[in-house]
Amino acid sequence: MEKMLREMRERVMKNIEAAGGTGALEQIRVAALGKKGELTALLRGMGKLPPEERPKMGQMVNEVRAALEAQLEAREKLLAEREKAARLAAEAIDVTLPGPERSAGSLHPMNIALRKMVDVFVGMGYEVVEGPEVEFDHYNFELLNIPKNHPARDAQDTFYVDDNIVLRTHTSPVQARIMTTRKPPIRVICPGRVYRADEADATHSPVFHQMEGLVIDENITMGDLKGTLDEFARQMFGEGIRTRFRPSFFPFTEPSAEVDLTCANCKGEGCRMCKGTGWIEVLGAGMVNPHVLEMCGIDPQKYSGFAFGMGVERMTLLKYNIPNLRYLYENDLRFLTQYR
Ligand code: PHE
Repeated sequence: MEKMLREMRERVMKNIEAAGGTGALEQIRVAALGKKGELTALLRGMGKLPPEERPKMGQMVNEVRAALEAQLEAREKLLAEREKAARLAAEAIDVTLPGPERSAGSLHPMNIALRKMVDVFVGMGYEVVEGPEVEFDHYNFELLNIPKNHPARDAQDTFYVDDNIVLRTHTSPVQARIMTTRKPPIRVICPGRVYRADEADATHSPVFHQMEGLVIDENITMGDLKGTLDEFARQMFGEGIRTRFRPSFFPFTEPSAEVDLTCANCKGEGCRMCKGTGWIEVLGAGMVNPHVLEMCGIDPQKYSGFAFGMGVERMTLLKYNIPNLRYLYENDLRFLTQYR
């Protein structure tokens, strides 16, 4: 029995030394020292020994158990350390690697253009005001001197919600709202969405954007209107851009004008964009019709004013030389990300 014990001790010691991982080590421990292990089996065999040999054998078994346990513990510690080191090495993070790229959003080109437009007028002391997109006929047409039989009122041009309510066809109803609720001096711009029953094509969309301007005070003249729009054109498109006023008609302004800008593409030389004329029509304007002032409760003997309305899409196409309105609405990132 002593021999078996010695032999076992040696064999298990070797196995411990050879164990490659903590898992294998645990198996060795269970096989040698576990409840159903080799050493327990040997202890049971002690019953067959003569009683005087038993204490000596018992002592030997305990020594072997202690020796093996010590060895197991030492090996376990070493292997656990090795395994931890290997795990850390495998999980190592290279903090100098560049992180994943984050794509930042950017403003829509129309918003960039609108912000610039607003900036120019705010710089001249204008206040930004807004009005509803679903509007009473009263403000959209009536107070603006647009008579009942005017073609703009036709259901083919205007979206009707009911007999008295429309989707506003321009931003001019906001001037009517401002004139009926404020006292001069008035100096406002009103950017916003407008609706017309148009088929969508390269230059039309049933929903688009305008920015209205309205100034009312004593002694406001057409000269003020011209100077204002000249300065706007210069700040928006740069030096050398001029305005040209052509006589026109709007029921709510008198006199009225359509205003052209020097074609920014050819600087007035004449090109495809301006159809060879060197000018591009960009807005409607005029002196607020005295009858409109009166309807809105402002004394036309004391006050006069000018108004203008421009297309935000139009300004954007011109500013960025974009050939087709549809690009503004398709939201193709290849297009949008060019404008930051
Ligand atoms: N409301 C006009 C339009 O939509 C533009 C305009 C505004 C004209 C103000 C004159 C004065 O065409």
